[in-house]
Amino acid sequence: MNLQLAPLAGISDAVYRLICFENSADRATTEMISAQGYLSAPKNSTAYRLLTDKFQEEGELYAQVFGKDAHLLADASKLLKDMGKFQGISINMGCPAHKVSGGGSGVALMKNPSLAAEIIRSVRKSVNLPISVKIRLGWDSNIAPSFAKMLESEGADEVVIHGRTRVQQFSGKADWYAMAEVKKSLNIPVIANGDVFSPEDYFKLIKICPFDGVMIGRGALGRPWIFEQIKAQAIGEVYDPPNVKEIVDIAMRHANMLSDWKGEDRAVLEMRKHFSWYIKGIRGAAEVRRKLNTLPNLAQVEELLYSFAHHSQKEETYG
Ligand SMILES: Cc1cc2nc3c(=O)[nH]c(=O)nc-3n(C[C@H](O)[C@H](O)[C@H](O)COP(=O)(O)O)c2cc1C
Repeated sequence: MNLQLAPLAGISDAVYRLICFENSADRATTEMISAQGYLSAPKNSTAYRLLTDKFQEEGELYAQVFGKDAHLLADASKLLKDMGKFQGISINMGCPAHKVSGGGSGVALMKNPSLAAEIIRSVRKSVNLPISVKIRLGWDSNIAPSFAKMLESEGADEVVIHGRTRVQQFSGKADWYAMAEVKKSLNIPVIANGDVFSPEDYFKLIKICPFDGVMIGRGALGRPWIFEQIKAQAIGEVYDPPNVKEIVDIAMRHANMLSDWKGEDRAVLEMRKHFSWYIKGIRGAAEVRRKLNTLPNLAQVEELLYSFAHHSQKEETYG
C-alpha cells in the first residue's frame, strides 16, 4: 500500500507533512513552486526557503514545480535536485486555478500536448530523479489516457491522476472509472487522486482498480491520521480516531512547530484554517472558530482549545 499526502498550496508545508509522515503517510509533495519565480528570486528569499525547507524527520518527498517554459522548468528542477533532499520532481499539469492555468501552466498544458512533451523531455534531461506528472482528466473533456501515454513515452516515471476536468474545478465527483482507464493504458505507476475522505472511500477506489498508490488531499485536512487509519483497517485492526483532547494535542503541536519555524505571528494566522479543520464536526466548533479568529497569540489559543476539549469530553462522558 502506498498512501501519499497531496501537494496543497498553503497547507502541505514541512510541519504538516511531518505530522502526516508521523501518521504513516508514505510520501508527500511540496506546495507548488513557480519555476520562474524560484529562479528569479533573490538567494535569501524567505518565501522560497520556506517552500523548499524539509525537516530531517520527513519521509519521501517530491518537490513540485509549475510553469510553462520547458527551460525554466528544467533549470528549477535541477536547482531543487541539487539541494539533495528531494526524492523526486512532480510537474504540475493539473492546477485549475486561474492565476496558474490562465497563464498557460498547470492544467492548461493538457491543451498543449506538444509543449507538455517538450517540458518532460527538458526536465528528463536535466535531472536524474524520478519524474511524476500530476494531471486531471483534461480541460473540458477526458483526454487523460492518451495524454498520460504521451507523458510516459516522453520519459515520465509516474502519473498522478485527479479524476476531474478543469471545467469541473472541484465540483461533482472524481471519476474513479476514468482514472482506472489511465492505469490500464500505462506501464509506469499510476497514482489515484480525488475524493478519498475515509477508509471506506479508499477501499472502494482500489476495488475498482489496483492503482499503484493513492494520494489524499482534502481528506487529510485536519485529519492527518487518515493514513494510519486506512493502514490499520486494511490489516483488520480496529482504529480509534483521536478524541477531542487528543485532537487538540495534535493541533497545538502543529501550531507550536509552525511557530518555531515561521514565527508566532504567522503561525497564529496560518493555523486558523487548520484549527477549523481539526475541530470541524465537534459540537460548539463554530463558536470556537469565531473566537479563534480574534486571538492574537498561541497562549490564548491553547487556553481556548483545551477548555473546549474539556467541555466536549465532559459531554462525551455524561452527555
Ligand atoms: C487548497 C488546495 C491547494 C492545492 N494545491 C495544489 C498544488 O499546489 N499542487 C497540485 O498539484 N495540486 C494542488 N491541489 C490539488 C490537490 O493536490 C488534489 O489534486 C485535489 O485536492 C483532489 O484531491 P482530494 O479530493 O483528495 O482533495 C490543491 C487543492 C487544494 C484544495
